[in-house]
Amino acid sequence: MADPKPANPEWAAQRRLEDLFAKIAEKYGDLTGRFEVKYRPDTTFDQIGGLKAAKATLRGFATALTAPEVYRQWGITPPKGVLLYGPPGTGKSLLARALASVSEATFYHLKLLNLTSKFGPTAGDLLQEILAIAVQEPRTLIFLDEADALSLEHLLPPPQAREASARLIAVLAEKLDGIEDFSRVFVVAATSRTDAIDPSLVAPGRLDRLIEVPLPDPQGQQEIFLLNKAQAEKAAARRLFAELDFRSLLPPMGGMSGAEIQEVIRRALETKAHRAGAGEQAGLVSTQDLLQEIDGYRRIKEVVEKIRYGQYL
Ligand SMILES: Nc1ncnc2c1ncn2[C@@H]1O[C@H](COP(=O)(O)OP(=O)(O)OP(=O)(O)O)[C@@H](O)[C@H]1O
Ligand SMILES: [Mg+2]
Repeated sequence: MADPKPANPEWAAQRRLEDLFAKIAEKYGDLTGRFEVKYRPDTTFDQIGGLKAAKATLRGFATALTAPEVYRQWGITPPKGVLLYGPPGTGKSLLARALASVSEATFYHLKLLNLTSKFGPTAGDLLQEILAIAVQEPRTLIFLDEADALSLEHLLPPPQAREASARLIAVLAEKLDGIEDFSRVFVVAATSRTDAIDPSLVAPGRLDRLIEVPLPDPQGQQEIFLLNKAQAEKAAARRLFAELDFRSLLPPMGGMSGAEIQEVIRRALETKAHRAGAGEQAGLVSTQDLLQEIDGYRRIKEVVEKIRYGQYL
């Protein structure tokens, strides 16, 4: 008996994705944490604070996925992709997911630092394979995360790294060049290290649109704070924070990224959870509580960053 027709496209896509993972795992082993596919992620542009310019520019490129023929009407071909660049934790991954979500595209997340760490210069074969399958989806967003890892600097001494990286980039560039015009495939690469990006990746006709994703200004920080606060309160289904005084909170938060703001909020809530767990009256998170967490976080920030960004590994 033939398989019953899939009830909805999401279900069908889920099955395709499972098949894809099975095939790739057979050949390359488990890729959990290195490569993820999501049928339409649920992150939206509204969940991203600050970044007005980056959001507006990136959102424009949804047309390359949803209505590429519009470019033809203007006598041009759609761009292949963009490079998001900016400090760690500023929302580059969120932006890529939001673009996939608003374009109703399948999201292929390639964590290149992990992939190249495992496969070294042969990561190109795997990339090739994934890209070949990805372009068969009706709409595909390929996210090349940590694109600086293509330099292989983390694996090999400089001369060998240069040579092996050039081969790897050549494979990738060939694939990018091979993506057909109007094919509803869009590539987003991200990096916090523009110095380690191979110029041929951003050559004309490849990822030749560059979008800066800077650290948030105070207004952006407040937006990010409120978004994260709302998220926690939604998850807890109750109020967690007292009335907050942003005039005292924002100055000591100067220079903090969105990821760091999220971390400070998490720590403040964690402190409360520990108190409540010990049977104490914890109360709502106050401005004073947050100032203390910010101060504590600042003191250990250097260590946290070194661990998080692998400089101790
Ligand atoms: N602009 C923002 N708006 C809301 N939340 C943010 C923003 N920037 C960062 N965050 C928070 O920080 C987390 C990490 O952000 P994200 O992974 O997008 O950063 P990134 O720029 O990709 O960092 P990295 O360079 O380390 O990969 C997000 O899950 C989110 O909670
Ligand atoms: Mg990221």
